[in-house]
Amino acid sequence: MNELDALVVTAQDEFTRAQTPADLENAKALFLGKTGKVTEWMKGLASLPVEEKKTRGAAINQAKQMVEAALAARRQALADAELEAQLKSEALDVTLPGRRVPAGGLHPVSLTLERIESIFGSMGFEVAQGPEIETDWFNFTALNTPEDHPARSMHDTFYVKGGTDAAPLLLRTHTSPMQIRHAVQHVKRHRASLDAGRGMPEIRVIAPGRTYRVDSDATHSPMFHQCEGLWIGEAVSFKDLKVVFTDFCRTFFESEDLVLRFRPSFFPFTEPSAEVDIQFQSGPLSGRWLEVAGSGQVHPNVVRNMGLDPEKYIGFAFGMGPDRLTMLRYGVNDLRLFFDGDLRFLSQFQ
Ligand code: PHE
Repeated sequence: MNELDALVVTAQDEFTRAQTPADLENAKALFLGKTGKVTEWMKGLASLPVEEKKTRGAAINQAKQMVEAALAARRQALADAELEAQLKSEALDVTLPGRRVPAGGLHPVSLTLERIESIFGSMGFEVAQGPEIETDWFNFTALNTPEDHPARSMHDTFYVKGGTDAAPLLLRTHTSPMQIRHAVQHVKRHRASLDAGRGMPEIRVIAPGRTYRVDSDATHSPMFHQCEGLWIGEAVSFKDLKVVFTDFCRTFFESEDLVLRFRPSFFPFTEPSAEVDIQFQSGPLSGRWLEVAGSGQVHPNVVRNMGLDPEKYIGFAFGMGPDRLTMLRYGVNDLRLFFDGDLRFLSQFQ
């Protein structure tokens, strides 16, 4: 083997020994670098006679090409190995079951509120929302419950800092303030028509939301829900209340087998007033009278505070307890379960 062949073999060996791209570059320098062996051979050509230069030069060139080919082959081999290792380390087991994203769900009381909204929506009622921190005026006074009225003591109220003596602030004890708030807006929108004696479209609204009282046991929570209903027009009667509320209850409980009783009661803002009781004719609660709402014909003083003439406008209001409705619908016997946030309980409604 001549020296050039030996050089090629040495280079191939060196390249094969290189285990990393960096090793390989170092090995390359030994042969093809500025002071590498092949380069040295090239330099040596200068001192040779012309004829020898030609044959010798061609031989060196051939050797150089073989060294370069060996280098390229090894480079490729190392790159392939690296890719292979990477693929192995990142291997995916596509047969593993996927990770489930836990699906959230609506709270049972939210489900009830949605039902209430959709049922009353189908009867032409809009939905209004209002503040939970109320003024004394909207929560009591405007609802015909002036200061020192004994009926105020029916509501154990959370008063809130930030009001004035003339306008104390409180957490609303019921959704009835929305009767006034909504009616005042409605009347304002139709002021021109009312002033011109052309009247206004009827007020037909429900107002669901959170309410607060100082009260806590298995059937009372300091925070609870109510849904107010208000229907005011020129000829809306107690009979309409009965029809609407009976329809609502039968749809809500998906039972025609259900009767209602309007039991005389008292609220300062309605006259006459009635508690609405329902009775199932079958099922586990069958035969018991269950109170679900307060109701009545809107008091003339309240109609006046809405900005309307009580000689012309009349109607009814009701306030029901969505928490109670939810308990009855699902057979839950402790109200506090709704507000403990225990997923073992809540996930049963999904
Ligand atoms: N706001 C009353 C309550 O909380 C319920 C009610 C609403 C009664 C509307 C009559 C009319 O007890």
